[in-house]
Amino acid sequence: MVDAPNATVHEYPDREALSHGAATALVTDIHDVLRRQDRYTLALAGGSTPRRLYELLGNEEEGALPWNRLHLFWGDERYLPHTHPDSNVHMVREMLLNAAPIPDDNVHPMPTQGNSAAADAATYASTLQAFFNDRTDTFDTVLLGLGSDGHTASLFPETSNLGDTDQWVRVVEAPPRHDVSTRLTCTLPVLNGTRQAFVLVSGSQKQDALRGVLKERDPSLPGTHVDPQGHCYWYVDHAAWPTSEQ
Ligand code: 6PG
Repeated sequence: MVDAPNATVHEYPDREALSHGAATALVTDIHDVLRRQDRYTLALAGGSTPRRLYELLGNEEEGALPWNRLHLFWGDERYLPHTHPDSNVHMVREMLLNAAPIPDDNVHPMPTQGNSAAADAATYASTLQAFFNDRTDTFDTVLLGLGSDGHTASLFPETSNLGDTDQWVRVVEAPPRHDVSTRLTCTLPVLNGTRQAFVLVSGSQKQDALRGVLKERDPSLPGTHVDPQGHCYWYVDHAAWPTSEQ
């Protein structure tokens, strides 16, 4: 039982099963939505949990996904060259883009090689504003993860002004416990402007954060503030959400 509003928890035995569950739900949603609109906008998460989901999406049988009508964005990015192994673009390219026949013009990575992180954040905000008129009405789906400290995208418990920033994309310095410090991240209003969110959480190291978000509603955890316009689906495995939490 969870106390988060508009939230549904889908529990799976392990990461492989939750990846398949999320992939099936996402592919179904894409087909449903594209019956009533021309394009589908999907914001991707970084980190390790979504890797298998991306691999499954990229390996969908030929023609199963209308890639020419999908637009991919990133919810956050480490401020590194896209060729760097810690780059989220690098990970998505490796797990999805190398296999999926998606037009280059439909892939919208966060720039990380401009004059400054602030300039690249402003550039990406313009990219988003070319697709969305309002921060409160953005993506069809946002994929997110949850850190063991309760962060999501690159919004950390230490990040100031979580919700009341008028920016679309901001520069954040991750706390020292994280490998890559300078990050670009969509702000919470932009992430919550999505119609729906899929939050993928796997592993026992996430138990405390997941309980803090879903049951305790701890406001100090950015994951607690994930509240899309529509529904929030939590794809979790039993290691992160043991039976005792259900
Ligand atoms: C990133 C992600 C980040 C991630 C969480 C969980 O750039 O690292 O966007 O928010 O989703 O840190 O990461 P794992 O999936 O690796 O546990």
